[in-house]
Amino acid sequence: DKGEYRHFMLKEIYEQPKVIKATMEGRVTGSRVLEQALGTEAANLLDNVRHVQIIACGTSYHAGMVARYWIEELAGVPCSVEVASEFRYRKHVIQPDTLFLCISQSGETADTLAALRQAKKAGFRAALAICNVPGSSLVRESDLVIMTQAGPEIGVASTKAFTTQLTALLIFTLALARHNGLAEDKEAEIVKALHLVPGQVSDILALNAGIEEMSKAFMDKFHSLFLGRGSQFPVAMEGALKLKEISYIHAEAYPAGELKHGPLALVDSEMPVVTVAPNNDLVEKLKSNLEEVRARGGELFVFADKSAGVQEEEGIHVMQLPEVHEITAPIVYTVPLQLLSYHVAVLKGTDVDQPRNLAKSVTVE
Ligand code: M6R
Repeated sequence: DKGEYRHFMLKEIYEQPKVIKATMEGRVTGSRVLEQALGTEAANLLDNVRHVQIIACGTSYHAGMVARYWIEELAGVPCSVEVASEFRYRKHVIQPDTLFLCISQSGETADTLAALRQAKKAGFRAALAICNVPGSSLVRESDLVIMTQAGPEIGVASTKAFTTQLTALLIFTLALARHNGLAEDKEAEIVKALHLVPGQVSDILALNAGIEEMSKAFMDKFHSLFLGRGSQFPVAMEGALKLKEISYIHAEAYPAGELKHGPLALVDSEMPVVTVAPNNDLVEKLKSNLEEVRARGGELFVFADKSAGVQEEEGIHVMQLPEVHEITAPIVYTVPLQLLSYHVAVLKGTDVDQPRNLAKSVTVE
């Protein structure tokens, strides 16, 4: 039931504060992650993990890409991320003491399951699943499971599944990091930041009308670029995926630093450029990338932390967002991009919940 909402996608976007909170429930206290809540075997299986191999598809793959930044930064453990359909068909090497982590909303994605089954033959320390469907094949075939508490996701375009995957992945990262010497006060700082996320997402939802206004500029466009740096690069990828799948506008994401290495040639007044710019130490670099776009007549749409000092000017539209901790920023910054795509699709009159050519769950190759 869509209730008061016009589409399931919009309803699911608005459910995010609640389901992110539900995904934290029982797994974190005010300042700590409760490792036992990840399973009685968790302590044993997370000890001596020397490498994390993440496998997923689509939106779940983007969640894995964000997690890689977290895992290497906080746990200091090398992490590789690959789409399942590539991993399963190439000769791959699995290092000893690898934690094999599959991320899937449905738990039934054929390529992800095939990758897991293949990797089992090669051997690894443990298989961890981040999944939204209890009793799914992925859940049954994994050693450790962290369920996202998103509830059923009906819209084909994944929204609340993604932000709850990120929540679960951050909780997992903190548990793993504790085994690798993360200081208690650092853990407390991040857990505190995580507790703020549901409220920050609500603050973003309150900006809906402004984002809807912004969406009008995309209606008659055929192409767009999405830029981000660091852990916001996968957020840009997810934003681009949302725009293409529901509005059918071609969207490509780049790490902002790659702009000069090719895509800048595409920028003109017909190419809107969307940028996610939280206030971390990469923001100054990002600002100079924005200048490069501006100088070529490109119209910029910037989602920025209000403390980042990105000013609205001719050709630069800025949506000022609440201040967020750098680690939790990818969760929060995803939401305005979801709303932007949603409104562009509604304006274009596409079938938002059931985009052409796509299925909710890809259970065949
Ligand atoms: O169920 P899964 O998370 O394994 O599905 C993977 C992708 O098919 C899925 O994330 C897809 O990319 C999204 N529906 C896009 O919004």
